[in-house]
Amino acid sequence: MPYSKMLSLPHISFQPESIAQALAEVGACLIKDFPPPVLTTQLHAELRQLAEESLLKPAAIGRAGNHQERRDLRGDSTLWLDDPRCGQAAETYLGQLAVLRQSLNQLLFLGLKEAEAHYALYPPGARYTRHRDRFRDSDARVVTVVSYLNPEWSADDGGQLRLYLSQQHTDILPHAATTLCFLSELEHEVLPARRERLSIAAWLRR
Ligand code: OGA
Ligand code: MN
Repeated sequence: MPYSKMLSLPHISFQPESIAQALAEVGACLIKDFPPPVLTTQLHAELRQLAEESLLKPAAIGRAGNHQERRDLRGDSTLWLDDPRCGQAAETYLGQLAVLRQSLNQLLFLGLKEAEAHYALYPPGARYTRHRDRFRDSDARVVTVVSYLNPEWSADDGGQLRLYLSQQHTDILPHAATTLCFLSELEHEVLPARRERLSIAAWLRR
């Protein structure tokens, strides 16, 4: 049962009511069938193409004055989905994210004003050490959404997203057709993978 560790989080369909309830009660959930399989395949192809063209750039940690590249702490390379060099798949994903943002807003009154998302490629061995997505000087990020684009992935490949929920943690495999949604204040980390690991990380911001 490769997915046994995922079962501790609610695994629900792309219904804003269910997602809102899970966020309010548990702080996190897995969203089934989002993005839809065809879009997942297109996003995967688009990201591979952008990587081929060397358009992804090493990610940094911290903000503004405290911005630094630390490959030992964070090893992925990224490109924002609203970059004009991204294609139709990125645009479609952003459209669906906007729908989620508006619905969650109506249900939870979170004041979510915008969404942002980047493609991320973790080369083999790369990690992102334990962190929160809220910066010390800004609490704009409220909800984190991570969609995985890796068609074949087993536990032996590593690369789990480890999410810390109160005293426990839960590990999620970055398998395609998995989207994880959680409150951005929660700590999490990306464990090193044996293979290249592709994802989209998105944030709903107030
Ligand atoms: C991030 C992040 C998680 C992942 O980009 O902040 O935590 O699984 N990404 O890619
Ligand atoms: Mn993060």
